[in-house]
Amino acid sequence: MSIDKHYDQSLQPEWILEQVHSAYPEGANLFQLAPLDQLHIGGIKASERLLRHLDPGRHNRILDIGSGAGGLMRQASALGFSMIGLDITHAFNRLNLGLNRCLSSQVSNPIITADAHHLPFVDESIDLILFQHSFLNMPDNRRVLDECCRVLMPGGSLLMHEVVCGEHPEQMRYPVPWAQDAAHSHLTRQQTLLQQLQQSGFSEVRIDDWSDEALAWRKRQLDKEQSGGAIRALLSPTMVLGPRFATMGKNLVLNLESRAIRVVEVVATRN
Ligand SMILES: C[S@@+](CC[C@H](N)C(=O)[O-])C[C@H]1O[C@@H](n2cnc3c(N)ncnc32)[C@H](O)[C@@H]1O
Repeated sequence: MSIDKHYDQSLQPEWILEQVHSAYPEGANLFQLAPLDQLHIGGIKASERLLRHLDPGRHNRILDIGSGAGGLMRQASALGFSMIGLDITHAFNRLNLGLNRCLSSQVSNPIITADAHHLPFVDESIDLILFQHSFLNMPDNRRVLDECCRVLMPGGSLLMHEVVCGEHPEQMRYPVPWAQDAAHSHLTRQQTLLQQLQQSGFSEVRIDDWSDEALAWRKRQLDKEQSGGAIRALLSPTMVLGPRFATMGKNLVLNLESRAIRVVEVVATRN
């Protein structure tokens, strides 16, 4: 099964958009859409923390690779940044475009269906590249980082909010939101990621561990899901990932607790 099939097997963009319209006929805000369009550990608050690195003076063209349903893009647009989305799963891109129209303050960002291993941009044309829980699906890390280096301007920035391999990968439980089994989970060790970034042409690499906050957040979400709070919520990740999300959500907690996975923020500069 290809990676886009993992995501689009339960994904019905038109049905989801109908649910959003009936829940928020006057238009939704970023927080109301977040359970649906911020599909990473930490939700909208983690995105807010990541977006603090964006600089209106330097970052005019920003590319979100693996933009999914587009929560991070809409949040950055609301701060005045010009965003381009790129995702291999076409159904996610249709949902992302549709959700732009559901927002009370509408935005329009270009969104491209493409593979991060072959970026459809000319050399040195992007100021900043974002990955949020998408690098974890990419089998050829070096190829993707080489492509990022090619399309970024010299001095451009790479920003990641990613899941990496922890000290106990043998404890890993599937399914997780990004993979049904090991075939689509491509978690890198922190040290390997650091070396790959340097080999591809990045410097000033900083890796911060966000795992403690990630675990606390996911446990709070799990409590809500198990007490029925999430069912009563108007929108939820289950609408995107299907009923299998119940097991995926529990496994995230177990994987963080056992240190099979870690959650990190990575900041790097293209030489
Ligand atoms: C776990 S989702 C995260 C989506 C979004 N970044 C978020 O945090 O809500 C991973 C996303 O990466 C995309 N993706 C995986 N492999 C990709 C590739 N090779 N090229 C482009 N997008 C990819 C998937 O289609 C999916 O939308």
